[in-house]
Amino acid sequence: MSELNLILLGPPGAGKGTQAERLRADFELPYYATGDILRAAVKADTDLGREAREYMDRGDLVPDELICKVVIDRVDSDEARDGFVLDGFPRTVGQAEELHRALEGLERQLTATLLIDAPDEEVIRRLSGRRVCLDSGHTYHVEFDPPKNDGFCDQDGSALVQRDDDKLETVRHRLEVFHQQTKPLVELYEREGLLRRFDGTRSPEEVNGHIRATLATLRLEEQI
Ligand code: AP5
Repeated sequence: MSELNLILLGPPGAGKGTQAERLRADFELPYYATGDILRAAVKADTDLGREAREYMDRGDLVPDELICKVVIDRVDSDEARDGFVLDGFPRTVGQAEELHRALEGLERQLTATLLIDAPDEEVIRRLSGRRVCLDSGHTYHVEFDPPKNDGFCDQDGSALVQRDDDKLETVRHRLEVFHQQTKPLVELYEREGLLRRFDGTRSPEEVNGHIRATLATLRLEEQI
């Protein structure tokens, strides 16, 4: 079986992390979410975290030169030999070009870019109700996906909190940044024939079903 090299693309709050959690259960692929990597660096107070923090708090993207090497080192690691899922990267045309160059140098290529789309007003509703667990980042929603015990993670019992960048003003700014800097990637991957679209307003189970069906078709096409 050949590699499965996937990108999850979409506006903030469209459900990329939610779907990634399901994809990881379905396919044994390493998962690299740049938001999680950066939040871990901020928490650990590393050089990367100290540089990234102010951008993240404002809802801006961190500069390409801070994030590209972090991702490309992971893609080029032994654990990613049979494939990977990238969530939140690339997010600018510059990052997409850098990833393309790196994969070309490794004689590898992307399998597909999975676009999970949702309108701005849905994103705002979702992010304002999102709660994440302090320990491992499992995600809930106070209305759409509430935990069994209010305020605590079903999976590890740790406290649930609201992310700093999920405040309304910051969410609005993150959306602007998405439309200006990340949306051009939709066209780029569409031109390359790599884009697969999913309606993020459907239930998480439906979106997962559509993604699984698409990946199964891609694998079948590859075998023909
Ligand atoms: P990051 O953590 O990547 O944030 P994001 O892309 O804005 O995405 P989110 O994690 O907010 O949303 P999601 O799509 O994963 O939605 P989720 O599944 O949680 O990035 C944070 C920051 O890091 C950036 O602002 C930037 O500063 C920096 N950064 C990261 N990568 C970078 C890069 N490459 N370059 C530069 N800077 C970078 O779902 C949201 C909510 O909706 C949850 O509550 C969930 O339960 C609920 N939900 C999910 N699916 C559904 C559904 N189908 N129906 C109903 N509710 C649903």
